[in-house]
Parts: sequence; C-alpha cells; structure tokens
Amino acid sequence: MSKPRVFVTRVIPEKGLERVREVCEVDVWQDTMPPPREELLKHVRGMDGLLCLLTDRVDGEVMDTAGEGLKVISNLAVGFDNIDVPAATARGIPVGNTPDVLTDATADFAFTLLMAAGRRLLEADRYIRLGKWKTWDPMALLGVDMKGATLGLVGFGRIGKAMARRAAGFDMGVIYYDPKDKEPDPKIEATRVDFETLLRESDFISLHPPLTPDTRHMIDSQALSKMKPSTVLINTSRGPVVDLEALFEAMKEKRIFAAALDVTDPEPLPPDHPLYTLDNVIIAPHIASASKATRDKMAWMAAQNLIAGLKGERLPNCVNPQAYSQR
Ligand code: DGY
Repeated sequence: MSKPRVFVTRVIPEKGLERVREVCEVDVWQDTMPPPREELLKHVRGMDGLLCLLTDRVDGEVMDTAGEGLKVISNLAVGFDNIDVPAATARGIPVGNTPDVLTDATADFAFTLLMAAGRRLLEADRYIRLGKWKTWDPMALLGVDMKGATLGLVGFGRIGKAMARRAAGFDMGVIYYDPKDKEPDPKIEATRVDFETLLRESDFISLHPPLTPDTRHMIDSQALSKMKPSTVLINTSRGPVVDLEALFEAMKEKRIFAAALDVTDPEPLPPDHPLYTLDNVIIAPHIASASKATRDKMAWMAAQNLIAGLKGERLPNCVNPQAYSQR
C-alpha cells in the first residue's frame, strides 16, 4: 500500500521529521524562509496531510487546493491563529497543536524578559560597550524590585499558571485577568481581578492570552494609560495583542517603565520601527519556546498529531474535535 503524502512547510527538528518519514512520503520545504503563498498552494495540492508552522496562513483556499484527500492539519505551535479553524471544521479536517510541552520553556523565557527589562540588563550591556562605565555609580541604571511587586497575568492558562509559580519563588504577589474567565486554581496563589484593576495595580504585566478578535490590541493607548509609570510590560503571546504604535507613544513619554516583547506585529518587526530607538524596550525574535529539548518535543507531538489524523484516529491534541462530527 502506498504511503500517505504530506507537505511539511519547513525543516523541523529531526525527532519529528524522522517519525513523519517512517509513515509518510514527505515533501519538506527546504528554504529557511516560509513557502510563499503560491508555493504553499502548489506543494499542498493532492496532499493527505499538512504539517505547518505559525508563519503559514492556512485558510479555506489552502484546504480546498489540497483537495478532498486532506485528512489533517498539524501545527507546530500551541497557538493556532494562523489557521482558519472554522474552515477546517466545516471541511471535517482535524487541526492539531502542541500544548503543554512548551509551557515551562515559554514561562522561563517570559520570566527572563521580566527580569531583564525590570533590571535593565540590555541597557547595562550597551552602557559598557559604549564606554560609559567609568565607576560604580549609585545613580546609574536603577531598575525595579521583584520582591513584594505585583505580577499581573493576562491569561491564566497553562503558561500563565507557570508564571504564577515562578513569581511565588520571587516573593511576588500575583493577580490575573483571564479573557475566558478562568476559575482560580486552588494550588496557585493568585487573585482573579477585572482587567482594569490588573492594569492599575500591577508592577509587572505579562501577557498570555490566545490571539482572538477580542484580544487583538487588548493593550492599546487606553490600557497603557491606566498602567503605573513603573510598570514593566512583557508579551510572549502574540504580537497583535499589543498595539505597538500606542506602546511606542506611551514609552516615548515614559508613561510606563519598560517593555519586553518576544512577539511583535508584524513579525519580523521592520528594522526602522521606532521602538528600536528606545532604550527601555527589549525585542526578541519569537523564541520563548526555543530550547532544544522543547522544540524536539513540539516536533514529535506535531508528527504524532499528523500521523493520527492520517490513520483516521483521534489526534492526541486536537483544537477542533467538532470536525469529527462533520465527516
Ligand atoms: C506557539 O507555540 O504558539 C509559540 O508561539 C511558538 O512556540
């Protein structure tokens, strides 16, 4: 019997690719850049499965171009806002994602950003490289303390909770607002508040919601105007959750203390973006889950979702189980 045919839109860790190769005939996009739209459409034609990345826009046109044989879409990410899930559901195509395995790596990196921005680590490095370090200076590069500070989490899912656990180790208080109104977790000391209270009371605000029409530009000029001038804002969720123009204006006028962004809108952020001119902004290239072990696990999980879908089995992690009743 011939093997199912799948398109993998980028070279992914060998752990996952090897697993896919065992079962499938694989077309792997070799370029370091994502396949342009016309190439994605060309390569997906006639495929049984698609293993894609958050940089690929997978909509109804892609699904229809693949054709009726397309049995599964497996995203190498926990977020899946790049996929038109309702379109997949309507076509009876299950969509897989990679939750859990990246929770700790992502929370570790969000915490890294939190501390680096709060204690001005990158500014300090530039200060030295620019030859400004002349002596120990009691007034230089003063940051904000973590002990006793309030961490405000927007989104209290897996990663939000992992942040709360880390914050406890630093003697921080934790409050959270969850757009889906998640219940408190008895194992975690964190108080549920409304969005406005979170903005007003937090010393650090870390964003962990999924990107939806409701969370797009959730941090806009109005939200920023409610924050304390000492607030440090961290975003490791999705770029469009923060209105970057509004953030630039707020930061230029020193209305908040610092920001650290692992995600931007667009990605990559163009090199002439005004945010790069500000000292108290850290920008990373969407690497919160980028540890070797975590990316291996993500690739394995994406492969397992793909293979389950090809075999007509339930995906280990499916974002649209309703798709099964459409078949
Ligand atoms: C995800 O998985 O959604 C991250 O943004 C990349 O790891």
